[in-house]
Amino acid sequence: MPDSITITDNRTGQSLEIPIRNGGVSSAEWQKILPGIWFHDPGLTTTAMTESAISYLDGDAGILRYRGYPIEQLAEESTYLEVAYLLLKGELPNEEQYKQWVSDITHHTFIHENVRKRFLEGFHYDAHPMGMLVSAIAALSTFYLDAKEIYNPAAREKQIVRLIAKMPTLAAAAHRFSVGMPFVYPDNELPFAANFLSMMWKVAEPHYSANPALVKAIDVLFILHADHEQNCSTTAMRTAGSAHADPYSSAAAAAASLYGPRHGGANEAVVRMLTEIGSMENVGDYVKSVKAGHGRLQGFGHRVYKNYDPRARIIKRVAYEVFEVTGKNPLLDIALKLEEVALNDDYFVSRRLYPNVDFYSGIIYQAMGFPVDMFPVLFAIPRMSGWLAHWSELLDQDSKIVRPRQVYSGAPERKYVPIDQR
Ligand code: CMC
Repeated sequence: MPDSITITDNRTGQSLEIPIRNGGVSSAEWQKILPGIWFHDPGLTTTAMTESAISYLDGDAGILRYRGYPIEQLAEESTYLEVAYLLLKGELPNEEQYKQWVSDITHHTFIHENVRKRFLEGFHYDAHPMGMLVSAIAALSTFYLDAKEIYNPAAREKQIVRLIAKMPTLAAAAHRFSVGMPFVYPDNELPFAANFLSMMWKVAEPHYSANPALVKAIDVLFILHADHEQNCSTTAMRTAGSAHADPYSSAAAAAASLYGPRHGGANEAVVRMLTEIGSMENVGDYVKSVKAGHGRLQGFGHRVYKNYDPRARIIKRVAYEVFEVTGKNPLLDIALKLEEVALNDDYFVSRRLYPNVDFYSGIIYQAMGFPVDMFPVLFAIPRMSGWLAHWSELLDQDSKIVRPRQVYSGAPERKYVPIDQR
């Protein structure tokens, strides 16, 4: 059997055989026979917008790999900065490369004083930290004039290092401002995740040393959130990047998309839902009301995973490690009960709705003391490396500017009527 499909235009009887390559068919072939007829694909659910060699995802089997490495192995053995290097450069670093990479990132953690003093401190006192982060990422482009040199390899590498390094500093600065605490400068003696926790929580101590179990947990959560192929924010990054916007402006577009509750805000929704449920006894009634069409089970279901999200499995394990230090978040028992009820209920089973990455991450963040407003920010910090890997890959591809078509459903041509005659 040939690995191809044949399409026939029934208006003309004309047929065309299109080869299937790497699980896809080229729309350029389709255009040969059907010019002016577009695929109507809202949400791009069946459109591969690009070829990519960064993440592999099999939603039916519940598999996620970065550059071929299973997410489980990376979460177990690697560090976030090593994973960021892998995503960006395609290979794991050797010792020397890793040392240099960590040193480069560490020496770019500071932000320009004007970003903090004049820009971030200009926000309203109760500004949402994610709104501050989105704006601050965009504002950085005005500080680095070489940001526009996207085809200069040295300048491109510089912006990549700056963006990855400055994310925790901006994130912590946004939090500190929103709770009225003074800004904490990066401590370059500390590794990436420990430095972030120091900038978040330091009060008057000369050196803040976070509990190593919590540092490890944050680092694993960063690994799990680093990339996820063509998700909504990565698509936003690629779309802005396809117009050759600088990486700060493109990343701000990506972060804005991550701000949405359907994407980076779902873990916040999970915590709100579990709080609303209140106790294990109410789980059954809550599930019944979801089945009756009153809202959705937050942290359940995924556009691509039709199986247990492999990241959720790892996060569930991390939750227990965190609770050893922080004490158990009382929402955990409700979450476990909810998962058990849903996974044994035909409504969820038949629709293949399983816990996703957000189901347990929120209760970990809450146990660690992060306010819910910070949850999407915690997602954005590591996702920056994935966004940049896709942005860089896009620039190295023979990419076109993203410019989809539409199926027009508006009024036909009509004549303008002056206002006094309407
Ligand atoms: N609770 C109850 N029913 C659900 C849920 C849910 N969480 N998710 C999907 N369904 C039902 C939906 O009502 C529909 O039923 P029916 O066929 O009877 O109309 C069916 O399952 C298919 O739903 P869909 O909306 O076509 O699925 P989708 O692929 O468009 O949506 C989703 C994916 C993630 C937006 C959705 O599952 C959802 O809203 N989940 C809750 C929010 C959430 O946890 N989001 C985080 C996603 S993971 C983080 C990330 O990668 O950014």
